[in-house]
Formats: sequence, C-alpha cells, structure tokens
Amino acid sequence: MAGELSPIDKAKYVAARRAADLVEDGMRVGLGTGSTAAWLVRCLGEMVREGGLRSIRGVPTSHRTAELARSVGINVVSLDEAKWLDITIDGADEFDADMNLTKGGGGALLIEKIVATASDQMVVIADAGKEVESLGAFPLPVEVIPFGWRTTQALIEETLISMDVLGRTATLRMNGEAPFVTDEGNHILDLHLARIGNPRQLAMVLNQMPGVVENGLFIDICDTVVIGYGDGRVEVRDINQGTVEHDRLDFEDTDNLFTDLAE
Ligand code: 5RP
Repeated sequence: MAGELSPIDKAKYVAARRAADLVEDGMRVGLGTGSTAAWLVRCLGEMVREGGLRSIRGVPTSHRTAELARSVGINVVSLDEAKWLDITIDGADEFDADMNLTKGGGGALLIEKIVATASDQMVVIADAGKEVESLGAFPLPVEVIPFGWRTTQALIEETLISMDVLGRTATLRMNGEAPFVTDEGNHILDLHLARIGNPRQLAMVLNQMPGVVENGLFIDICDTVVIGYGDGRVEVRDINQGTVEHDRLDFEDTDNLFTDLAE
C-alpha cells in the first residue's frame, strides 16, 4: 500500500512517523492541521490502539483534526481543559534556517498559533520542499474579521509599501463562490509578498491593525523540525540543542494506516 503513495506523501508520512516517537504516554499533545499533521494523528491513533500511548490527551487545532483524532481513538480535550501542553506537532507551509514558519495554508493559523504557543515544545513536520532561504514565496495568510475586510485589505496593502517585501497584493481566500470562513468565523487574506525580508517586523506590524486577528508568521515558536524525504530518510533539527540527527524509516506494506487515506 505504501508503494501507492507519491514521494511527497511518503516524505510527509515518514516525518510524521518519526515525530510521533517524541510523544510519551501521559502527554498533552497539540495536534496540527493539514495533510502532514493528518499522518501524525493517524500514527498517534495507531500507537494509542496498540496500547503504548493509552493516556495521551490531544488538543486539536481545527474541527477537521478533532474529527480525525476522535475517529482514530485519541482522547480529545480542549486547550482550557489541558491548560498547557507538553508538545505540539504540526505541519508548515514554509520554514527557514531560523525555524521561522509560514502557516495557515489550511486556514487554521489562529488556533495553531495559540496551541503552539501554549506548548513546552513545538515540532514541525514537513517534506523537504518546505524549506526556503527566505519566507514569502508561499502567500502569507492573515486572518481578518469579516466586518470591513475590504478596508483591512486596503490598509494592509498600504502598509506593505513601507515593508521589506517584494510583492504587495492581498487577496481574499475563497471557498468556491463564497469567501473562505475559518473555524472561528473569520476570513483569510493571502498576502502575495514573494520575499519577506524581515518576518519579525512584518508579524508585529500586521497584528497592530484593528481588523487583523492573527497572521501566519510563526517567529521563535518552533523548537524542532522533522524533515521527511520520499525515500524514507528523515532529518531532525533541534534549535535549542543545536543538533541534527539523521534517520531512515521503512515503509511497512501491511501498515493499516495506508488503507484509510482520508485526504
Ligand atoms: C494549516 C497549516 C498547515 O500546517 C500547512 O498548510 C501545511 O499543510 P500540509 O501539511 O497539508 O502541507 O498551517 O493551517
């Protein structure tokens, strides 16, 4: 079954599988959103069912992750119930050498940032194609309240003139004919910046605007990146310990994770 996966899916799977080993029984775990995070949730679910992680509690970062987590047998609790998390494992749209991230391609950036910030350790799982020299090629998602979103869009575009970026347009994310709506009932503006020279400054400026709820730049939040490759290689970079580990995972054809691909 694993042989039917594309190299990118294999890369996502091995990153998720390796990151699942960082979870210990009893931990409170932030569960990310997106296709890579979905692999993680399936891996953790399998470990729960096999008895190794029987007492973990998972805090999902979206409705769809909550649904998947419950379906694979993970005990799902709210962040307020968990209060603080031991670890959060999530995907990313881009990461740079300082482990700064762009997130929100799946529209869950607000809850993802709240959950990641409330964690002792944030681990990003990604295929190698997500690594970039500078953030910005992937459009930067910004969650805005629906009221006056066009005014917020204009304000953002005007502000971008004085920022260290190459592109300056903001487009409303759509879901078919209608604006995309986040789990919190907001809209997303995708900023087409091409290159972000100073992500920290941009993140602060965006969050000062009245209609902006949160932006998809994760600065100084990520501790570890687990990078997967299509041939089963995995690289684990830890920014706090300054370590880089290399590993290789085998694909198991009998693994029932591959029989219930949801996305
Ligand atoms: C969702 C996210 C995702 O983590 C990000 O979009 C990566 O997704 P995928 O693992 O599907 O490539 O930020 O809001």
